[in-house]
Amino acid sequence: MIKTVLITGGSGGIGKQTAISLAKEGFHIIITGRSLKSCSEAVAEIKNKSTNENVDYIISDFNSLKSIQALADEYKKKHSYLDILVNNVGVLKETKEFTDDGIEKNFAINVLVPYLLSILLFDLLVKSKSGKIISLIGGMPLRKIDFQNLQAEKNYLGVVTYSQSKMVMMTLMFAFGKTFDNTNVTSNFCYPGQASTAMTNALTPKMFPWFLRIFSPIFSLFKRDLINDNGKSAERASQSTIYLAISPQAQMLHNSYINYKNKKTDIPKLVLNAHNQHHILKYANQIINDRLGINIS
Ligand SMILES: NC(=O)c1ccc[n+]([C@@H]2O[C@H](COP(=O)([O-])OP(=O)(O)OC[C@H]3O[C@@H](n4cnc5c(N)ncnc54)[C@H](OP(=O)(O)O)[C@@H]3O)[C@@H](O)[C@H]2O)c1
Repeated sequence: MIKTVLITGGSGGIGKQTAISLAKEGFHIIITGRSLKSCSEAVAEIKNKSTNENVDYIISDFNSLKSIQALADEYKKKHSYLDILVNNVGVLKETKEFTDDGIEKNFAINVLVPYLLSILLFDLLVKSKSGKIISLIGGMPLRKIDFQNLQAEKNYLGVVTYSQSKMVMMTLMFAFGKTFDNTNVTSNFCYPGQASTAMTNALTPKMFPWFLRIFSPIFSLFKRDLINDNGKSAERASQSTIYLAISPQAQMLHNSYINYKNKKTDIPKLVLNAHNQHHILKYANQIINDRLGINIS
């Protein structure tokens, strides 16, 4: 059976490079992107660079939890199993924004989407011999999770809010991963490293804490070097996902964290903290229940 991989955000950035590499390995690739244009252009490029014709897309803008339900439904209409789900889409915004269903975007897209999509597609991952969930991490290290500010209720600052959302996602997915007993499904995390993509090219000094803004001239030079690198840095940044997807050494990993050099790295203490896991699970499940009427026990 041909192995299938669903890559969210496979129409651009690191996700597209991941799609090209896995297409070269013979996978049936299904990417998501927000528009017909971005998806069809990416599919053409992936086919061209890989010489694999088995590349499809599902258009999906992650602007509500209902759109994630629709994405899962569309995948299920066309496919009876899923070998790998790559939770690649992530957002980093200059100002606080909300999805159509009123959830702060870092929390909705970086935290709830990977979790909800993994839940909705779990039965298809179970049907694979070795279903895998791979979730991309990013941002700065943190000392604590501020439970009063999960949706930036108290304050919003681009990279800080983004970093917390990635840590919260890891905690939520780690807690979810603990429930996979008696299945062949694994869930792992990878840090891709820095790459020139739509996300990083849109970074502005305003997204950083004041003490980091003084480095913005240096940062601009660094960014200038990265821009227009023709996907080279994104290709490099796709390597940790590829490692988790196909490397024989990675096949036994579960709830593990791989850095950009494909080295197993300690799971942060904040993520291992049982209180944090419990709190975030309860909070996420409540929102999903409120918005979609799905009761996750
Ligand atoms: N780039 C880095 O240096 C870096 C570093 C650390 C971690 N990461 C993480 O790596 C992952 C990929 O990053 P990237 O830099 O490749 O990101 P990116 O350039 O923003 O990714 C672009 C892809 O995401 C899709 N996308 C963007 N916003 C979306 C939304 N609201 N709803 C649905 N799809 C959306 C785009 O669709 P369209 O093509 O239709 O626009 C495109 O397919 C993210 O999780 C990020 O946090 C990146």
